[in-house]
Amino acid sequence: MEITKFIKEIPKCELHLHIEGSFEPELMFKIAKRNNIEIPYETVEELKSAYQFNNLQEFLDIYYAGCKVLIHEQDFYDMTMAYFLKCKEQNVVHCEIMFDPQTHTARGISFDTVINGIHRALTDAEKKFGITSKLIMSFLRHLSEESAFETLKSAQTHLDKITAVGLDSSEVGNPPSKFERVFAKAISQGLRTVAHAGEEGSDQYVTEALDLLQVSRIDHGNRALEDDALIRRLIRGEVPLTVCPLSNLKLCVVDDLRNHPLKKMLELGLIATVNSDDPAYFGGYMKENLIAIAEALELTKKDIFQLTINAFYGSFLDAKSKNKHIKNTREFYNSHK
Ligand code: HPA
Ligand code: ZN
Repeated sequence: MEITKFIKEIPKCELHLHIEGSFEPELMFKIAKRNNIEIPYETVEELKSAYQFNNLQEFLDIYYAGCKVLIHEQDFYDMTMAYFLKCKEQNVVHCEIMFDPQTHTARGISFDTVINGIHRALTDAEKKFGITSKLIMSFLRHLSEESAFETLKSAQTHLDKITAVGLDSSEVGNPPSKFERVFAKAISQGLRTVAHAGEEGSDQYVTEALDLLQVSRIDHGNRALEDDALIRRLIRGEVPLTVCPLSNLKLCVVDDLRNHPLKKMLELGLIATVNSDDPAYFGGYMKENLIAIAEALELTKKDIFQLTINAFYGSFLDAKSKNKHIKNTREFYNSHK
């Protein structure tokens, strides 16, 4: 079997996906029209041609602007269901989805509207397609600690729908330490934690995320490779890294996929995984990310298999479900290697 077909068909797990980053221009125009909201671009093509970024902030400005058309619960449902349709097409069987409530509550949309729309899609996707998922509520790190606390407060009646809290948005200048107290509160309420670190920020941010936020995984983590003691700590502690190749390329975190650190991460024995981050903006979902990085780094089917089981292993599924998925994936690998 060709490696591209192997990548498409192997049962996959995605751990780093911002649902607002899966909002495709076509759906954005459709929802804008029904909500009577102006988009400052005439056509889908014109909007897509604006998707060129020199760094994280240039992307974030466009990403937050795109969210302005999301008003009603149904809008959040439609955006989320569109992502699940992609999962079904690409055989992603489990995903852990981040959402950014503050992007919407700051515009006057209620927390309940956001989470109810997204959560209804999660429930339907499991019923209709058998795709399981978890929800990660991410705090915007460029906003204040107080705003993060308010967001956690709004989530109190929805804790049954949320598995973990996360930390995203503009990294440099907004270290994990800024959110130590709000993460401690979330942990005391039974939530798990993840954080973006080492995407543009230094290895020190990765260390802080481990020490101060008690994270179960590091989102991105590229710059952890700059510190040997940290690498050993991540290996020993079995801390997964949710790596996003096409995102790294589009946001100039790497200059060329051939220079991407993923292969080195695998060789070192880190629990690296491949993810799409914001697929509508970066040119691809799970399949496209895996194909692009496999080509650039000459990855083998065995590497793809390793990346895939790393993701199930690093997920928030219970041990029994993890083992079931890993067994299925191993059977697929053994019969198609
Ligand atoms: N980094 C930080 N914040 C984000 C990202 C990212 O890649 N995507 C959406 N919010
Ligand atoms: Zn991200």
